[in-house]
This record gives sequence, structure tokens and C-alpha cells, in this order.
Amino acid sequence: MIELFTHAGELVVDPFVGSGTTLVAARDTNRNAVGFDLQSGYIELCNARLANGDLLNMSKQIPIQDDTRNICEYFKEETISLIWTSPPYANLLNRQRKNKSRRNRNTAQLNKVEQYSQDERDLGTMSLDDYTLAMGDIFESILPLLKPKAHCVINVPDMWWENERITIHISLVEELRRRGYELRNIIIWDRTNIVNKIGIFGWPSNYITMGVTFEYLLDFWRPPK
Ligand SMILES: C[S@@+](CC[C@H](N)C(=O)[O-])C[C@H]1O[C@@H](n2cnc3c(N)ncnc32)[C@H](O)[C@@H]1O
Repeated sequence: MIELFTHAGELVVDPFVGSGTTLVAARDTNRNAVGFDLQSGYIELCNARLANGDLLNMSKQIPIQDDTRNICEYFKEETISLIWTSPPYANLLNRQRKNKSRRNRNTAQLNKVEQYSQDERDLGTMSLDDYTLAMGDIFESILPLLKPKAHCVINVPDMWWENERITIHISLVEELRRRGYELRNIIIWDRTNIVNKIGIFGWPSNYITMGVTFEYLLDFWRPPK
């Protein structure tokens, strides 16, 4: 995505940077990049992954510990060439593990909630409706920071909840359109290989994570003026 939508030296921003994969990819492709995360642990992980800097590379990558709702305080209008992110997925991970996908269900994870955090600012704690509005507010505030025709690519799966398909990607497409973005493309990221690497049906520990073998790359842009 970075190579597809930006030139060397341009600015890439990840509003939900997590372990910093975007920053590492930006360094490897000589792009400047800034990433936001609520949690100090992730910012430390980003810094550790960036520690072996590339001396021949003049670009900078900076992880910032802040609520991404404050993103406007960090950038001037029309300076960002690409938003690329893998955001939280509403509160769909925020439930007790039943270990249904495990051969041996009685592990230390049984009945534990394995969520990124319980911080109320974390979009991963919200119902799908609140989450969609919060994403809309955040991306509406980002829109003026993007250069016209700059892309904004969001990576999400859909999920199952109580035997119902939760189409996160449709909620996000509709909400971002309402907020002024134009959908350009939807790319299906086939992750079957990754799932298969876990083993035949995940043997001996896991089957397929989240019941999906692919994710969406929702490719929007800021419409031309
Ligand atoms: C799916 S993870 C990102 C994964 C990332 N692509 C990686 O390579 O690790 C989502 C991240 O969003 C962060 N997050 C959730 N709500 C946030 C908010 N309001 N502001 C900043 N970060 C937030 C979480 O702490 C979590 O690390």
C-alpha cells in the first residue's frame, strides 16, 4: 500500500499503530511516518522494532502515545499522503473466550477476555454502532489533513457474533462516505496461507481464527477539489 500510494519522502500516518508494522514498512520504503496508540506498551514495542535504524535512509518514523482523536493537533492541513491502518474491530474481541476452536478447551485462556485493553477511549471496547460513529468522527477530523486524492486504506475483517455475520466493512464504507470520503476500491486480502501455516485445521492447538480466512482493504481517497 505504501509503495502503491506514496513517493519516497512523503508522509504516512497510522491512527491505530499497535506493534508498529506500518512504521517499519515506512522505514523500509523510505517514507516518513507517524503512528498513534493509547498504550505505552505498544509505543515501546514500536520503538524497539525501529531501534535498528537504516543509516542510509533519511526518513523518520515516530510512534506517539495519544488518543488518535487528538490527531489534528499534530499535522497541518493537506500534508498527509497516505492513511493506512488496521483499527480495532468494535467490541467483538471483548468477550470471554470459549476456546471453541481449540482441541483442548481447558487452557489458561478459557473464559478470559483477550482484548487490547479496557480503556474506554479504546475503540475496541465499543458496540458496533458506537464504534462506527467514533470511527466516523476520527476519519472526518483526518480528512482535511490529507492531500486531495490522497488515499486512506483501512484493513478490517468481518466477524461472527452469536451466529450472525457482523459486516464491519459495510458499516465503515457507509460511515466514511457520509463523512466525505470516496470509496475507490475494495481489495480482498486472502489470508488462507497464513491460516494454513497454523497447520491442518490448526492442529494441534487452533483452528481458524475469528472464522474468517480473508480481510478487506477498504481503499478510500479524499476527493479531488
Ligand atoms: C488492531 S490493533 C493495530 C494492529 C497493528 N496493525 C499492528 O501491526 O500491530 C489496534 C490498536 O488501536 C489502538 N487503539 C484503540 N483505540 C485507540 C484510540 N482511541 N487512540 C489510539 N489508539 C487506539 C489499540 O491500543 C491497538 O493497539
